[in-house]
Amino acid sequence: MYKVQKEFSRFANSYDRYSIIQKDVSIKLINLIDFKPQKILDLGSGTGEVIRNINWKFDKFIGIDISEDMCKIHPKNKNIEVQNLSFEDENIYNQNLNFDIVISSSAIQWAKDLNRLFFNISKVSQNIAFAIFTSNTFTTIHKISNLNSPIYSSEELLENLNRYFNFSYEIKNYKLKFENKIEMFRYIKKSGVSGGFKRLEFKDTKNLIKNYPFNYLEFEVIFMVGEIKKNK
Ligand SMILES: C[S@@+](CC[C@H](N)C(=O)[O-])C[C@H]1O[C@@H](n2cnc3c(N)ncnc32)[C@H](O)[C@@H]1O
Repeated sequence: MYKVQKEFSRFANSYDRYSIIQKDVSIKLINLIDFKPQKILDLGSGTGEVIRNINWKFDKFIGIDISEDMCKIHPKNKNIEVQNLSFEDENIYNQNLNFDIVISSSAIQWAKDLNRLFFNISKVSQNIAFAIFTSNTFTTIHKISNLNSPIYSSEELLENLNRYFNFSYEIKNYKLKFENKIEMFRYIKKSGVSGGFKRLEFKDTKNLIKNYPFNYLEFEVIFMVGEIKKNK
C-alpha cells in the first residue's frame, strides 16, 4: 500500500472538513478551463471536489483514485464513473481511450514518475488542467526542522511538463491561519499532507511547535492549463 494512500484513507470521512485549501484550489482550477470538455479524466479524484465544480453538461467523467475510501464517497451516476486505481497504472493509458481534457487537482504532487505520467497523459488527451502543490508548501516547517520537502519543486514540475505540453501557468501562495499552534499542527496531520513531519522525533516536534514563527501554514500551488505539443 502506498504511504500516500494510507494518509488519505485514514481521514477519508473527516477529510472534507480539513480540505479548505484543496476546495479553493479546485474551484480556481475549473475556472481556468475556458471551454466545455465532454470527456473528462480526473486523476486523484478524491471525494469529488472537481466534479462538484463542473457546471456544464458533459458526456463522460472518469475519476481515478488510489484510495478505496475516497472512491466510495465520490458521486457516481450514469455519466460519472470512478476507478480505484493508481493514476500511474499504465493500463489506464493503453486502452485507446480519448479524453477532451485530463484534470488533476491537488494530487499529482504524489506521482513517483512525473515524466512517465505526463507522457501517458499526453497519449490520451488533447488538453490538461492541473493544480499541483509544490515543495514550497510548509517551507518554514521544513527549514526549521531540516527536512526536505517530499514533493516536487515548481522548477521540476515545469521542466517535466514542458516536454509534452504547451501551457500557461500561475503560482499561488496560500496562508492558512490558526487560533493556536496545536490546532495548526493537528491540521497538518488531518489534512493528509503531513509530508516528512511524521518522521520527526517527539522532542523535535516539540521544538518545531515552539519555534514556528507564524500563526499560519504556508502552501504553494502551481496551476497550469494547456494542450499537448504536436511534435513531441
Ligand atoms: C489532496 S487529495 C485531492 C482530491 C481531489 N482532487 C480534490 O481536489 O479535493 C489527493 C488525492 O489523490 C489521491 N492519490 C494520491 N496518489 C495517487 C495515485 N498514485 N493514484 C491515484 N490517486 C492518488 C489520494 O488518494 C487523494 O484522494
